[in-house]
Amino acid sequence: MTAPTIAPRDTTKIKWLITPTSTAWIAQALANLDTVLLDHSHCERKAAGVALSLMSRYPSNEKLVRELTAIAREELEHFEQVNRILQQRGVDLAPLPAPPYGGGLKALVRRHEPDRLLDLLLVSGLIEARSHERLGLLAEHLPIGSWRNFIGV
Ligand SMILES: [Fe+2]
Repeated sequence: MTAPTIAPRDTTKIKWLITPTSTAWIAQALANLDTVLLDHSHCERKAAGVALSLMSRYPSNEKLVRELTAIAREELEHFEQVNRILQQRGVDLAPLPAPPYGGGLKALVRRHEPDRLLDLLLVSGLIEARSHERLGLLAEHLPIGSWRNFIGV
């Protein structure tokens, strides 16, 4: 099998990310799409869980709770969508080892308010930005007709 051709890309799309994802990651992800999809399922579930957790931690912040409610709902819909694709591909839901990226960021969260809330939101935003960047890269490199449409192209 021939290695996929990796086209140059616009690294300025996600302005919050200082370091772009490597082209090696793209090739590895394209060669392991089922694992990428399974990881994405976990990411969607975790994103919904983080939104619910923040709602529980800050129940009197009405604006935040309203925003998080919408986010939790949206992430659970994404979770269902990804799980349908996994099922169509014959991939069972299964645990995956947690990558060190999220844990490393969360270790930097300050412990006192209001810094804690700010840091938790920043960590979530960075994780979302990286995920957005990587799904966009996959969408650019996946053949049309695969699950490319799901990830937004
Ligand atoms: Fe999502």
